Amino acid sequence: MKAQVESLRTAALGALAELETLKELEEFRVRYLGKKGEVTALLRGMGAVPAEERPAMGQLINQLRSELESALEAKETALSSLQKAAQLKAETLDVTMPGKAQTTGGLHPLNIVLADLIDIFQSMGFDVVDGPEVETDHYCFEALNVPKDHPARDMQDTFYLGENLLLRTQTSAAQIRTMEQRKPPIRIICPGRVFRADEVDATHSPVFHQVEGLVVDKNITMCDLKGVLEQFAHEIYGPDTKVRFRPSFFPFTEPSVEVDVSCSACGGTGCRVCKGNGWIEILGAGMVHPNVLAGCGIDPEVYSGFAFGIGLDRLTTTRYKISDIRLLFENDQRFLEQFNG
Ligand code: PHE
Repeated sequence: MKAQVESLRTAALGALAELETLKELEEFRVRYLGKKGEVTALLRGMGAVPAEERPAMGQLINQLRSELESALEAKETALSSLQKAAQLKAETLDVTMPGKAQTTGGLHPLNIVLADLIDIFQSMGFDVVDGPEVETDHYCFEALNVPKDHPARDMQDTFYLGENLLLRTQTSAAQIRTMEQRKPPIRIICPGRVFRADEVDATHSPVFHQVEGLVVDKNITMCDLKGVLEQFAHEIYGPDTKVRFRPSFFPFTEPSVEVDVSCSACGGTGCRVCKGNGWIEILGAGMVHPNVLAGCGIDPEVYSGFAFGIGLDRLTTTRYKISDIRLLFENDQRFLEQFNG
C-alpha cells in the first residue's frame, strides 16, 4: 500500500506540472481529490490494511492529500496570473496612436443673426410668436388692408395652393393672428420663412426670411418706433450706426416708412456693400393702420401701434459681407463652416 501511495504521488505531481489551463486544473482536482477521486479511493481501501499499520498508513495518505492540495493551490495561483497577463497583453491600448477628431455641427449664419435679434428684442420685452407658412388670403392680405387689385396678390407674385390658400408672402400675417388672440398691451416678434414668386439671382430668392414686429398699446407713437429700431440697429451694427426713415407705403401702416442704417462696412462713405450710397435698407415699418386695428376688434380711438418687418437675409449678408444671397440657401459646407469656430 505504501508503494501505491508513492506511485500516486509521482503520477499526480507529474500530471499537475503538465497542466496548462484552469479548466484542466479543475479536472485534476476532481480526479485526485474529489469524493470519487483517487486519494479518497486509497482511504477507502484502508479496510484491507492490518489494524496496527492503519494509523501510519492513514497519516501517509493524509499527508499526500495535503501535499497535493497545496501543490494544486500553488499551480492555481501561477495559472491565473499567467492568464491575467495574457488578457492584459491582448487588451493593451496604444495610447500613442493618433485620435479620430470628431467634427461638430454649428449654427447657420441666418440662425446666428436671428438668435442675436431675438436676444435684443426679448431684452426690450418682446415675446417671440410663431405663425403658419401656409396662410389664407384673409391673414396674408385681406385683414392687412391690402386691396383686392393689389399687385402683391397677383399669381405672378404669390404662390397659391388653392383659391384662398397660399404660401405667406410676408410675416405680417402674424400681426393679425396675434391681435385676434391677445389684447393690448402687445409686444411680439414673429420670425419665419416667406415665399414670393421671384426669379433667383444674387439678391432675390423665392424663399427668404422676415422678422415681424408688432407693438400695440395706449399712446404708442412713431417716436417709440424710432427708439426701438435705433436700439436694435446699435446692438446689431454698433453704437455709431445711424438710422434713417424714408417715407414709403404699405397698405397696413399709415404713415409708412422704409428704414435704412448707415453702412457698417464703410461707415457711410460708400462702398461695395452699400453699393456706394452709404446706407443699407433693412426693413419696412409704420404705424398700424386704424382699419387693421378695428378689424381685429381693437379700438383705434383708444389704442395705437407700430409694426415693422425686418429682412433677415439682408441683415445677415450685410453683417458678414456675403455677396450673394444664394450662398445662404445652397448649404455648401465650406461656406457654412466659416461661421463656427
Ligand atoms: N410686410 C412688409 C414687406 O414684406 C414689411 C412691413 C412689415 C412693413 C410691417 C410695415 C410693417 O415688405
